[in-house]
Amino acid sequence: MLTLGIESSCDETALALVYDGKMVAQSLYSQAKLHALFGGVVPELASRQHYTALSHCMEELFSQVSYTMEDIDCIAVARGPGLLGSLLVGIAFAKGLAFTLQKPLVGVNHLHAHLFAAGLEYPLSFPFIGILISGGHTYIYYCSSYTECTILGRTLDDAVGEVFDKIGKMLGMEYPAGRRIEEFALKAQSDTVFTHPYCKVKTIDCSFSGLKTQVLQYIQKHPECILKHHRTIPEENPYCAYVCANITRTIAETLTHKVILALEHCNENKLPYSALVLGGGVAANQYIRHELRECSETYMCPLYTPSLSLCTDNAYMIAYLGQQLYKSGYYHSSSLSAIPRGSIVPVDYLKM
Ligand code: KG4
Ligand code: ZN
Repeated sequence: MLTLGIESSCDETALALVYDGKMVAQSLYSQAKLHALFGGVVPELASRQHYTALSHCMEELFSQVSYTMEDIDCIAVARGPGLLGSLLVGIAFAKGLAFTLQKPLVGVNHLHAHLFAAGLEYPLSFPFIGILISGGHTYIYYCSSYTECTILGRTLDDAVGEVFDKIGKMLGMEYPAGRRIEEFALKAQSDTVFTHPYCKVKTIDCSFSGLKTQVLQYIQKHPECILKHHRTIPEENPYCAYVCANITRTIAETLTHKVILALEHCNENKLPYSALVLGGGVAANQYIRHELRECSETYMCPLYTPSLSLCTDNAYMIAYLGQQLYKSGYYHSSSLSAIPRGSIVPVDYLKM
């Protein structure tokens, strides 16, 4: 089965083809440079960019393969959460294609797509513990099927990626700052400068506001760690590298602590799990991957970490989940709606 995936929920316009669970080709246009000028994603600009980029991406996608549009068996589109205007552009594009080609349409939950992205490279089997760490969301789920992901824990304030981005801004870095903080962190040793936020309470939920305050106070005392220019390399500012190493360590250890609580919760409640599955843009961070790998070894439970390009927003993950859902008999009618950020994506599929 050949599935076309369409992703336009934030600042990446992407189209991909997945054939029977395997990646075939992708065309991805990133708007990151445009939004970096404004220090964050500008919703109005994002939807306009999706509007102009989608048809170019479609041409580029099909120039890479020998398939034609008529070979598509199913069309999967990200329906939320995300920026409403951006989602509407992708969904309208998907509906037009589904109508013209007379092919089924499946609306996909963007967050679940991040989690199941690991299925493109690993043999997923249910149930598993899903760890979603992205720019807008932080969740630990108990996933029992492609449509059932129960929240075990979530952030009570900022998402992990948001914490990296906001701290990066304090340090004079461009948006998004996660990868840049990691680059600096790699050049320094960490100590225990910051305490683990919201870890004294025995809950799987996280809160990162305390860490932001600690970092702000540290920077006020040590202004030498602020970059003079956003292009500064780590060797030019070891103070910044040191604070980045400490921030990354604290975040990685905090997340791992929460994952351990989730594992213990499942053990205590006799909830089986086959693996720990990581997803989302922040899952590209090698400190976090390393800490979680150690935890997975201690708990003798495999850790599935997708390749870096499958961690950030992409259309392979949309096509993959859409294909799995359609194979399980789920689809949507042409009245499929977009679900913006802050709203729960309903499980409103039709069943064959
Ligand atoms: O999954 P994603 O595209 O966001 C949403 O769908 O919301 O992830 C983007 C986020 C940004 O906050 C970015 O700073 C962060 O992922 N990020 C990283 C790394 N690469 C991207 N954070 C930490 N370390 C990285 N290597
Ligand atoms: Zn995403």
